[in-house]
Amino acid sequence: MNGEETTRKGTKYLTFDSQEDIGINPTSNPTLGDVLNERIGRRGLIGGMLASSALSALVGPVALFGGSAEAEAATPKAAAGSAPSFRFEEIAHGVDETHHVAPGYDVNVLIRWGDPVLPGAPAFDPMKQTAAAQATQFGYNNDFNGFAPLPLGSKSADHGLLCTNHEYTDEEVMFPGLNGEQQKANFARMTKDLADIEIAAHGGSVVEVRKVKGKWTYDPTSKYNRRITGETECRITGPAAGHPLMRTAADPTGTVVRGMLNNCAGGMTPWGTWLSAEENINGYFWGKLADDHKNAAAFKRYGIPGGWYNWGAYHDRFDVTKEANEANRFGWIVEIDPYNPTSAPRKRTALGRFKHEACNVVVMKDRTVVAYMGDDERFEYVYKFVAAKKYDPANRAANLGILDEGTLYAGKFGADGSVTWMPLVQGQNGLTAEKGFPDQATVLINARLAADILGATKMDRPEDVEINLKKDTVYVVLTNNNKRKPEQVDAANPRAVNEWGQILEITPNDGDHTATKATWKMLLRGGNPKDAKVGGQYHADTSANGWFACPDNVAVDNHGRLWVGTDQGENWAKASGTADGIWAVETDGELRGLSRMFYRNPVGAEICGPFFTPDDKALFISVQHPATDGVDQYKPFGKLSTFEEPATRWPDFKPGMPPRPSVIVITKKDGGVLGL
Ligand code: FEO
Ligand code: CA
Ligand code: CA
Ligand code: CA
Repeated sequence: MNGEETTRKGTKYLTFDSQEDIGINPTSNPTLGDVLNERIGRRGLIGGMLASSALSALVGPVALFGGSAEAEAATPKAAAGSAPSFRFEEIAHGVDETHHVAPGYDVNVLIRWGDPVLPGAPAFDPMKQTAAAQATQFGYNNDFNGFAPLPLGSKSADHGLLCTNHEYTDEEVMFPGLNGEQQKANFARMTKDLADIEIAAHGGSVVEVRKVKGKWTYDPTSKYNRRITGETECRITGPAAGHPLMRTAADPTGTVVRGMLNNCAGGMTPWGTWLSAEENINGYFWGKLADDHKNAAAFKRYGIPGGWYNWGAYHDRFDVTKEANEANRFGWIVEIDPYNPTSAPRKRTALGRFKHEACNVVVMKDRTVVAYMGDDERFEYVYKFVAAKKYDPANRAANLGILDEGTLYAGKFGADGSVTWMPLVQGQNGLTAEKGFPDQATVLINARLAADILGATKMDRPEDVEINLKKDTVYVVLTNNNKRKPEQVDAANPRAVNEWGQILEITPNDGDHTATKATWKMLLRGGNPKDAKVGGQYHADTSANGWFACPDNVAVDNHGRLWVGTDQGENWAKASGTADGIWAVETDGELRGLSRMFYRNPVGAEICGPFFTPDDKALFISVQHPATDGVDQYKPFGKLSTFEEPATRWPDFKPGMPPRPSVIVITKKDGGVLGL
């Protein structure tokens, strides 16, 4: 039922997997229908890739992240031969109340919803929760994780700042006395106190973390610790700052906004900041605009208002009939300086407004900064941004403004394996005042509408877009799209009713990420490779546990190997029959596309935010919304979870304690590099 609904909660609890993929792109951009031309395993292109790799040595990106000498020295030799580079014993598909990792590894819960983050934070008591307490404690539904080494500028792999997004809230398992019918019942039991706890549980956290005697802990007393909530003052910067569409009664300047919302995935920059992506922001707004309202057409394209929360009952800014521009101030990439806990988060409007999943940055040898991003909804687009100002390793203050100026592009994925990046620039390619784009700010605020006009390729829900610095490639993780019809398939989105997703790999021409041309090929297609109706495609040696469905957030280690987290949503029983987890995927050589299961999360959860320390010896992972997704399909439980009776009480397993979204950390028992 992934995405059948257009509301958040119907007869079942709908989690964000359903919410984010409604599919509201009405345009008729070309779909090529060329399944036969699908690009997996095209030898001609592979030859071309090798040539372009050689050229990339001249113009390619600088490796600015991690990459310790020790990890480099241990580089496995998979590329040359047929031995898998991953050396761990695969675990089995399955589903139960807890989680599982490969033998020889430890998995520890680092921080949970409600754990104290700021001085004076009370111990978590779910029966006595308040907004004031929540604003000092770790928020709900941890998503992206980033690791910012301490001290700033070091490559420390044992000590740093964990930057975590808190994407959304699941009130039915957060609060006692509710049930799963709140939206249907017009949020009858969602009081202002509860809504305010939800607002305080959104946003992000910074916590100082350290490895002591091989075990990771966080410091609740650190001066760096920070909570950003749905109320924290943020600045709006870049071309759309101050634009009339960004002005509200509370902020006539159009430059200051309260809070960041639905922060999903993200990225860390080489200058030590955290990019946090506002995704399904439509859900926070309710009310109904008149059809002839100036914002009506654009709001429709963005699914606003979504009406998934009742905050509009208590706060006028979330009611579009009372404040029609507040929604324009959400849906951005937010840049946060974790080393400066009093700095205002910056919404960087140059990167466009859509349902941002992730934002990953690469710096070219000439110090040009490029960021890749996806818009996670069915039939939405992949974007990239090329900054106008160059990165200066000696001037951090200047780097903090890099993402305010540059060019945003939307991607077209050709059946011939080409990628064309099309600029979203006012006055070019039909982005004119007559078409509704009088200025560049409007192009950016309504980036989806601008990309429609350019004819960007409608993708199967772009989740993570991650850069492989080792190979100069970019992974585009397309999670699923069960609304794609047979006549809508194209080479990059080759399956109708796609319940399983696929991962594409982009290679920029001559290693130049600033170029408007690139090539793409398929890395793998999700789903069971043994079922012809599914059409999953992996390396042939992939085991019965090695395949997965619905790839979402991924991490690339220092060897250029891919670690894939999954989010099947409510559909897990049908899509794979296993709980979500982490799979390790070979990206090179004869074994390219070989996948093995490494970690499995508890029932009802999804994997978010896999992120390695610079030495690849620790992997942080967000286990999001345990006990919620599709737990009626989990036979030992067979119904929907409530606070009183959840499908699992992971990770505490204490009577009366609800399930708690948590960040875990996986380490190898011998202290070594993961997967070696
Ligand atoms: Fe919040 Fe697209 O995942
Ligand atoms: Ca990432
Ligand atoms: Ca995601
Ligand atoms: Ca997802």
